[in-house]
Amino acid sequence: MTDSKRLLVVAHVPSPNTRRLADAVLRGAGHTDISGVETVHLPPLEAGPDDVLAADAIILGTTENLGYMSGALKDFFDRTYYPCLEQTQGKPYALYIRAGHDGTGTRRAVEGIVTGLRWREVQPPLICRGEFQDQFLAQCEELGMTMAASLEAGII
Ligand SMILES: Cc1cc2nc3c(=O)[nH]c(=O)nc-3n(C[C@H](O)[C@H](O)[C@H](O)COP(=O)(O)O)c2cc1C
Repeated sequence: MTDSKRLLVVAHVPSPNTRRLADAVLRGAGHTDISGVETVHLPPLEAGPDDVLAADAIILGTTENLGYMSGALKDFFDRTYYPCLEQTQGKPYALYIRAGHDGTGTRRAVEGIVTGLRWREVQPPLICRGEFQDQFLAQCEELGMTMAASLEAGII
């Protein structure tokens, strides 16, 4: 029997739409064809260094607020950066952003931090920009599924 892998989803969900996005990520990660991957969702304010250390891969989800990531995700990084710095280099991660009209400031800010951590981007950032579209749900579901399937296959 092989040990199951752990996928951590650290996603901020301040609205019904962002809840739907996170649920879509979790639905994809929990696809019936994927076994051996345990997916855990924690809001950023509840996630800490131990959760990061225990994860084999991470999906970060945030809104863009005032040109930057949510304060909740920034707080997560503030608390996890130094405790994780030495031990999580190379950790596979992906990022999705819900942005009313932009998303670039958030992308830049998150990428700056994870570059410092030396985490490894394994999917291009997904920016769900503009008026909410059902297509975002399919994209988030695919993101979750791809991350979990890649973990299962041992390719990330
Ligand atoms: C205070 C505040 C600031 C925001 N700033 C930005 C911003 O700088 N860039 C952007 O693209 N969207 C911005 N938004 C829009 C949010 O990203 C968007 O409303 C949020 O992701 C939730 O999506 P939803 O409205 O579909 O639920 C802002 C929203 C609020 C409430």
